[in-house]
Amino acid sequence: MTQTDRPAETLADALARCAGAVAAELERVIARAQPVSDRLARAMRHAALAGGKRLRPFLVIESAALFGVPMPRALPAATALECVHCYSLVHDDLPAMDDDDLRRGQPTVHRAYDEATAILAGDGLLTLAFELLAEPAAAPDPAVRIALVAALARAAGGEGMIGGQMLDLAAEGRFADAGRPAPDLASVARLQELKTGALLRYACEAGGLLGGASPSEIANLQAYSRAVGRAFQIADDLLDVEGDAATVGKAVGKDSAAGKATFVELLGVDGARAELGRLVENAHAALSGFGTRATLLREAAVFIAERRN
Ligand code: IPE
Ligand code: IPE
Ligand code: MG
Ligand code: MG
Ligand code: MG
Repeated sequence: MTQTDRPAETLADALARCAGAVAAELERVIARAQPVSDRLARAMRHAALAGGKRLRPFLVIESAALFGVPMPRALPAATALECVHCYSLVHDDLPAMDDDDLRRGQPTVHRAYDEATAILAGDGLLTLAFELLAEPAAAPDPAVRIALVAALARAAGGEGMIGGQMLDLAAEGRFADAGRPAPDLASVARLQELKTGALLRYACEAGGLLGGASPSEIANLQAYSRAVGRAFQIADDLLDVEGDAATVGKAVGKDSAAGKATFVELLGVDGARAELGRLVENAHAALSGFGTRATLLREAAVFIAERRN
């Protein structure tokens, strides 16, 4: 069956299908650590397999599907990205960072195990991601594998997610020598584009690399993922204000307590919602050239903006 005559699938079914495949793959690759340390493998499993919406792998798989790449071929890159995301959550929750006890409705890894094990489980997931991308199963063409590795390193590192995490902590006024970004829209947008946006942008970039996207298709995917990335963090910040911990699966009300600059803080709840609406429109506009092949990506933008957890 070709890409264009794929049967229509609901977003919920597609997310569940992707989540199942990614969980099975995570289980398989985390088992590599088992012979060395059962405790490490268990902590990595706790970090990676106790829930999660699997939105980033979904975006890899669906971006690749735009170009006819079947899910099994996109699965290694999708799993690698989820490894980096799960590691980022483990470290984000550590006492030295956001000091959280609850994640995905479960105790955080340092709570379920201990801080050192959580640090190492995070490190294990981060390095596993690059192992997966370097393996031939990630892409038959070595040049594509190198491009996937380089792009993930950029998205995850100091010029991407980690840089954004540093700005996020600096915005709380934690570091005497690092300055404090101005709590204005431009600074918050930059911080969020890095801390959350970079991995979401990588998801679509990886799909484009796997599918051999043309420069104009890459530009459209970039525009989509930029809009979705901004929407994702605004929705997260709204949930921190409006959600309850039982539904969200993590503590709420922490951002303003920590003095975090967010769009919700700057624009108010209604202003943040209006911005979400604009971002969904931008995301949809970016996909117009892909026609019905992009139906699930279109629906995903709405889901990301309106998510309740
Ligand atoms: C939470 O990400 C952390 C942020 C980047 C805001 P998700 O909301 O995607 O978390 P899971 O993977 O579904 O638990
Ligand atoms: C974290 O942002 C983004 C990461 C890089 C992990 P938050 O600190 O807002 O994420 P949550 O609210 O703890 O999931
Ligand atoms: Mg944080
Ligand atoms: Mg946090
Ligand atoms: Mg948050």
